[in-house]
Formats: sequence, C-alpha cells, structure tokens
Amino acid sequence: MSEDKEKLAIVSGAAGVLGVAISRDLVRDGYRVVLLDIDPEGLAPLATELGDAAIPLDCDISRSAAVTEACETIQRLHGPVSVLVNNAGVLSNDKLEGTSDTEWNRILRVNLDGAFFLSRACLPGMKARGWGRMVNICSLAMKIGGLTAGTAYTTSKGALAALTLSVARECTGSGVTVNGIAPAYVRTPMVTEMLSAEQRDALLQQIPLGRFCEAEEVAHVVNFLVSPLAGYITGEIVDINGGLEMG
Ligand SMILES: NC(=O)c1ccc[n+]([C@@H]2O[C@H](COP(=O)([O-])OP(=O)(O)OC[C@H]3O[C@@H](n4cnc5c(N)ncnc54)[C@H](O)[C@@H]3O)[C@@H](O)[C@H]2O)c1
Repeated sequence: MSEDKEKLAIVSGAAGVLGVAISRDLVRDGYRVVLLDIDPEGLAPLATELGDAAIPLDCDISRSAAVTEACETIQRLHGPVSVLVNNAGVLSNDKLEGTSDTEWNRILRVNLDGAFFLSRACLPGMKARGWGRMVNICSLAMKIGGLTAGTAYTTSKGALAALTLSVARECTGSGVTVNGIAPAYVRTPMVTEMLSAEQRDALLQQIPLGRFCEAEEVAHVVNFLVSPLAGYITGEIVDINGGLEMG
C-alpha cells in the first residue's frame, strides 16, 4: 500500500471507547492513525482490525519527555502529522473537599498537560506545511460545573477549552484550525460503570433526547472538524449533549 504522507493522524487515548470510534472514522477517511495510549494491550485488537492504517504506540502523555520522543519518532518514521485528536482523559468524580493533591495532579497531568505536550510537539510541523487540524475532547462538565463529574475533571476540561482557544488564536493565518468538542454523557464505562443506576436514570430524565450519546456520534463530529468542509471553523467548542444544555 502506498503511503499518503499528508494523511497522518494521532489519536490519544485510542484504546478507549471514544478513541476507537474516532480512529475507525479517520481510517475510513483515508488516514493512517497513530493509536497512542498508555495501554498497549487495549490497543492490540484495534490495531489488528485497522491493519496497515494503524500505528500503535505505547506512550504516557502525562510525561513531557515521552511525548516529545514519541512525536519525533512518529514524524521520522511515518512523515508529518496533519491531524491531532487530544482524546485521552481520566475521570474523577471527587468534589473539591474530597480531592487530594494526588488526585488533582493525576487528572490535570493527563487531561491538560498531555494535550499541551502533544499540541506543542505537533504544531510546528502543521504550521510549516500550512495545513493542520487539532481537535480537543473537552466536556459539558466545564460549562455547567460538572453534574456528576468532580472538581479536578471539570477544571481540567475548562482549561483544555482555554488551551483550544489560545492555540486557535496563535494559529491565525497558518492554515491550522483548532477546535474542541464538549460531549455530555456518552455510553461508555465512564457512564455505565462510574455512575449508579439511580444517577443514570435521573440523567436520562434530564436529557431532552432521552438517551446517552453514542461514541460514533462524537467521532462523526471529529471527522467533520478535520474535513475540508470545516475549514472555516476554528476556536470553536462544539456541543454534543442531547439538549442537556441549550444555547
Ligand atoms: N465518556 C463520556 O461520557 C465522556 C463525556 C465527555 C467527555 N469525555 C472525554 O472523552 C475522552 C474519551 O473518553 P472515553 O469515555 O472514551 O474514556 P476511556 O476511559 O474509555 O478512554 C480513555 C483512554 O485514555 C487512555 N489514557 C489514560 N491516561 C493516559 C495517559 N497518561 N497516556 C495515554 N493514554 C492515556 C486510557 O488508557 C484509555 O484508553 C476523555 O477525554 C473524556 O474525558 C467522555
């Protein structure tokens, strides 16, 4: 298979539910995808499924040096990165008074620092080629204070949205767009395992569309934002929340 070096994407957290859906969609769209995750065993089935289009990579995005090295290796072996999806994230439902220093740092290091390290490593190449797409997976929690999500998580996603706007502004005139997506409750273990049956029922009552979001629906928005048709959208955080928050 000949390699189209212009269509190389990185998806962080590719072993997770959203990461799998996003990676599949990008491959369907002709991308080779670096499946980046701290869980190599979790990546294995997806890498097998996607075949030659998949480049599985074991990397802890909370470690600056590891991200720098990973991105250098990717670009040396596989060419320039044109799309970065900052999707990896960890959830904490601990509210302020119950949040330890350790928990605070654990969440911020992955959800914010990791996206910062990856964005910093990928942006120069995108700018140099005059084209690039970054998509950051934020959360509705940052807009409404987190219904069930805790303080560190909610704060990390608010900061990720601010990072999105800051980098979008920095990319003025460069051909690189930077956007975020703010899902509410996606049907994933984050929702099915970390919430009680009572919490889930109460949420379903509040969501106008009466169901949780499917991972494929978020992947579809990623796909749109990286497509040429979305070339006039930058510095935007796209809501996908079934009407839980309107306007
Ligand atoms: N599931 C939801 O309802 C929901 C709602 C809003 C936002 N989000 C966000 O969407 C993203 C994906 O969520 P998901 O439900 O697919 O989660 P998930 O737990 O299924 O996947 C997250 C992935 O990130 C990886 N990861 C964690 N720490 C890492 C690190 N240090 N380095 C590299 N990879 C790491 C995990 O191994 C995992 O594969 C997250 O950022 C999450 O905050 C999810």
